[in-house]
Amino acid sequence: MTFERFPGEFLWGVATSAYQIEGAVAEDGRGPSIWDTFCELPGTIANNETGMVADDHYHRMPEDVGIMRELGVDAYRFSIAWPRVLPEGRGPVNQRGLDFYRRLIDQLATAGIAAYPTLYHWDLPQALQDRYGGWIGRDAAYAFEEYADVVSRALGDGVAGWITLNEPWVSSWLSYGWGSHAPGYRSMELGMQAAHHLLLAHGLAVPVLRANSPHARVGITLNFSPIEAASDAPKDIAAARAADVNVNLWFLDPLYRGEYNDVLLPDLSHARLRIADGDMATIGAKTDFLGVNYYTRFLLRSGPSPFNPLGEYVEQTHAERTSMGWEVYPDGLYDTLRRIHERYAPGDMLVTENGAAYADVVDLDGAVRDPRRIAYFESHLEQVARAMDDGVPVSGYFAWSLLDNFEWTEGYRQRFGLVHVDYETQRRTIKESGYWYRDGIAACRRAHSNRAS
Ligand code: FCB
Repeated sequence: MTFERFPGEFLWGVATSAYQIEGAVAEDGRGPSIWDTFCELPGTIANNETGMVADDHYHRMPEDVGIMRELGVDAYRFSIAWPRVLPEGRGPVNQRGLDFYRRLIDQLATAGIAAYPTLYHWDLPQALQDRYGGWIGRDAAYAFEEYADVVSRALGDGVAGWITLNEPWVSSWLSYGWGSHAPGYRSMELGMQAAHHLLLAHGLAVPVLRANSPHARVGITLNFSPIEAASDAPKDIAAARAADVNVNLWFLDPLYRGEYNDVLLPDLSHARLRIADGDMATIGAKTDFLGVNYYTRFLLRSGPSPFNPLGEYVEQTHAERTSMGWEVYPDGLYDTLRRIHERYAPGDMLVTENGAAYADVVDLDGAVRDPRRIAYFESHLEQVARAMDDGVPVSGYFAWSLLDNFEWTEGYRQRFGLVHVDYETQRRTIKESGYWYRDGIAACRRAHSNRAS
């Protein structure tokens, strides 16, 4: 009954990202990205895996669009690899890179699936890392503006919705602050500066996308996790509060209120953050929707942790968890949507990622039985419906992910797909959760056509 609770025009989608599925990292003129480089460092990725082949989607794209058609989704959120389009980050355009995304968009159109590309899902051209220190350099934001221009001129007519950035918290704090993602720097000060430049990049791109792609909607995707203190101790409460500002509010405040939150993070101050005149106005460019990625909540206690000066995450051994170790906590999605609506009223939200990793296997009869993933989706969709019943505007939901794929530092051992991928043969098998999603979408459509007739 869950799917029938959603309105007829609700957008049912699936999501992926370029580096996690495409492979073909040195093909047709693609330049290296910071993730290619990062994966080469010994010990950074589980089993020393890389995205070199991934799901080989670059060569199997028509098959993957065929699977989406079979699932009956309305929309596909994918990301465009910046180094495929501009191998040196800025300057010469690689037409073959653009052609790949043109073919994808055309095939989606033929299948009746709306295209929701993300411009930046963490695969910065290595050349920009070398030239500017990546997002530490303000010039990276101007390079992004040029990249947005090139891509939206070439593809803008086929796009339903643009997402400028995916989870800038991850590509700034986690990547330049804690060092757990590419490029692996460890300075909270640099993390904060990178975050500012990512926001600036977003703000610079919004008017460009609007000019080149006037029929498309434009938004940004952020990650959210409720963060709670692990005990009543004041220092744990303070640590959780700071981490909550850092993770959940840091980007929303400048986007919707034109200022940074003044609950300062320990050892960091605004004075050290380089903000130029006019930046906050640029960042506040009006958008059409906010993309919300939600997976879990975190419990935090204060204390020195090598990678997180804000505190330490406490493993929730008591709770039901996915194979990522993440607690299954559906209420957090309701709380998140509601909190964002009440504090910032973005007007519309799309859940641009939500999903769960489990150790799936293909059974002897060829089926992939993943009841826990179905239960995860079901319980989270119920919370989306509940938020909508309470007046929170949400117009779509993208399951993460269409395919099992390269899960960043976790490599291939975490399977998030509605579709199983055998990495030896690249064989795709729709999991039971995939069929469940297909049937749910069909039931939602049926419910509304019945109502209409
Ligand atoms: C999100 C990322 C996505 C995927 C999921 C599990 O943070 O945006 O690429 O890795 O987590």
